[in-house]
Amino acid sequence: MRVGVIGLGYVGQTIARAAAASGHLVIGYDVSAESVAKLDAKEIGNFTGTTDETKLSGCEIVLIAVPTPLTDDRQPDLSFIHQATDLIARNFKSPILVINESTSHPGTLRTEIAARITKASGVVHLYASSPERVDPGNANWDVKNTPRLLSGLTPEAIALAKSFYSPFCDTIIETSTPEVAEAAKLFENTFRQVNIALVNEFAQIAHAIQIDPREVISAASTKPYGFMEFTPGAGVGGHCIPVDPIYLSNVAAKAGVPATFIELATQVNQAMPAYVVARVIAAAGGSIKGKKVVVVGVAYKPDVTDTRETPSAEIIRLLASAGATVTWNDHVVGTWMGQSSSPIEGSDIAVVVTRHSGLTEAEIKKATYVFDCTGTVKGVDGI
Ligand SMILES: NC(=O)c1ccc[n+]([C@@H]2O[C@H](COP(=O)([O-])OP(=O)(O)OC[C@H]3O[C@@H](n4cnc5c(N)ncnc54)[C@H](O)[C@@H]3O)[C@@H](O)[C@H]2O)c1
Repeated sequence: MRVGVIGLGYVGQTIARAAAASGHLVIGYDVSAESVAKLDAKEIGNFTGTTDETKLSGCEIVLIAVPTPLTDDRQPDLSFIHQATDLIARNFKSPILVINESTSHPGTLRTEIAARITKASGVVHLYASSPERVDPGNANWDVKNTPRLLSGLTPEAIALAKSFYSPFCDTIIETSTPEVAEAAKLFENTFRQVNIALVNEFAQIAHAIQIDPREVISAASTKPYGFMEFTPGAGVGGHCIPVDPIYLSNVAAKAGVPATFIELATQVNQAMPAYVVARVIAAAGGSIKGKKVVVVGVAYKPDVTDTRETPSAEIIRLLASAGATVTWNDHVVGTWMGQSSSPIEGSDIAVVVTRHSGLTEAEIKKATYVFDCTGTVKGVDGI
């Protein structure tokens, strides 16, 4: 089949490549020439990228994989979804299958996508929702072996979407409505966000009573049921864990239901950079004025180049406002905010926020003092 993908970011590329590898002719459309250019360099046969939306015409299936971030005032931003729906309304005058993979609140497929397209074009397409669960950098779980949630507005849409995914996805779980699939995606990431906040809070309690939080977590993890291990860190980054729970709390607010846990978890996670910096200042005897501090790892997690919502940004800001001379080191990211990665050597203090594989302990310990937020550097202070 001819398959179009709107948005060639991480998710769009993943699905485009999987669909192409299973024999479909795939056309990826992106507003960013840069995203398309990056793709062309490593193009595979039946998958091409374009910034020309008219090239999508003739596609029988169109997938939406556009960003769903927050606005400046931290509200759900559906503008990219709306751009994608407008594009479909403009370019498709007879019915196709539209599948949304972007993360969004329950009701997005029905009201923000299908209803908008029908209103704008008068064409009634088939609609399915299959929120992507891919985890960048995860060597064990990929698009093939990660079970996929799927639902649609009609049985025909569900059947067609299932037949599209089944060649390259081992397990497809059909939910009764698209709203269930959409809500499940938000709930999964909220579950992580809340548990990360809990473990971050616990790490602070444990430190205050002079117990190693990571040893406690390891000990608790020996319980074979009813416990799941989460580890503390400098905060949460990426554009899923810090963002998706806010889509859920926003839904709660509209429904007039409190989202106390979600809001509290956001607060706890957002306060971690300040906690880290306070610990570093305390370890330095109460002041870091004039100290050379390097923040190690500005990607939001190991072995990815993604710096969105990285807690390193706030840590750097707080260290600088406490009078330190701050640089950052990240050989995977390389360039960030117009600056290049700096060496660790020669620093008075290294604050390890994210540790990519390949960064040795010896390299980190070239700084005079190390504060480790990752639990991977032996024999140093940290959380
Ligand atoms: N990255 C992940 O790990 C991940 C995992 C699961 C779900 N998701 C969800 O998938 C969606 C996409 O995420 P991503 O990480 O691929 O985002 P991304 O930012 O990497 O890529 C999005 C791409 O969409 C393009 N774009 C923006 N507006 C467009 C438009 N109107 N038309 C065409 N292209 C447009 C951007 O230029 C960009 O290349 C989001 O809803 C996200 O929450 C992401």
